[in-house]
Amino acid sequence: MKIGRNDPCWCNSGKKYKQCHAAMDEKIAQFEAEGAKVPPYKIIKTPEQLDGIRKAGKLNTAVLDMVAEKICAGMSTEDINTIVHEYILAHGGTPATLGYCGYPKSVCTSVNDVICHGIPSPDEILKDGDIVNVDVTTILDGYYADASRMFCIGEVSPEAKKLVEVTKESVDLALKVVKPWGFLGDIGYVVSQHIYEHGYTVLHDIGGHGVGNDFHEDPYVCHVGERGKGMLLVPGMVFTIEPMVNAGEEDFYQDEENGWTIYTEDGSLSAQWEYTVAVTEDGVEIITH
Ligand code: MF3
Ligand code: CO
Ligand code: CO
Repeated sequence: MKIGRNDPCWCNSGKKYKQCHAAMDEKIAQFEAEGAKVPPYKIIKTPEQLDGIRKAGKLNTAVLDMVAEKICAGMSTEDINTIVHEYILAHGGTPATLGYCGYPKSVCTSVNDVICHGIPSPDEILKDGDIVNVDVTTILDGYYADASRMFCIGEVSPEAKKLVEVTKESVDLALKVVKPWGFLGDIGYVVSQHIYEHGYTVLHDIGGHGVGNDFHEDPYVCHVGERGKGMLLVPGMVFTIEPMVNAGEEDFYQDEENGWTIYTEDGSLSAQWEYTVAVTEDGVEIITH
């Protein structure tokens, strides 16, 4: 990118380049010269984009708060779909999953041994002891925010509860290493370390992603990694952290009939929590959770 120091900054802030992103860009160039993998400019959000993504995130969090209040035994996963769909529409948003690559519903509901992309159904009734991931992505004014939470229905087994808790802890640990001039590998390292310490496995092949201007953007966020490796973290990057954690083996298979739903191969339980985060000037901002 060739911008004069007195030209307007590429981020549309209206400030001169030298008073805005020039120092950051120099630092990125320095890391690149030293061999680091650096983010392409198109995935660094402008202040205006961040503002839009924040608003989408606020609505997305409100959707999950609403689900948390209502979810209970006896509800079908289709009922979850209905309340999510209606809430998002009533607040001026659009459910991003509906029609996404042919996906038929407004939410993913992944119960017990379903790792992700469970499709809501009127025939699937939540019952005491189930663990369910509800994954919501909201589009508001063209901006995307993506998050999921685990819900324990009634009384769940101690094993299920532990899996859900440890998975959440791994995301909380990851939040601590999201900061400018860190690396994506730092996230994969702390997540996988925590998961492995508890004897669980975490998927290498399905992970987080850049998000904000679109549903799935670069980079791919792997939940297994090495400290100091992978893409450099830079202020303005927005991505998800969403480890899929299996109580048993990491192996999975895809539902052949619907082409979406991913199950654990060994039938073991699986848990996932997803946050969308932004890298800020001095750390991390939670966009939706
Ligand atoms: N929300 C999921 C994610 O975290 C993606 C779901 S895509 C769908 O990336 F089509 F399956 F809904
Ligand atoms: Co999601
Ligand atoms: Co996601």
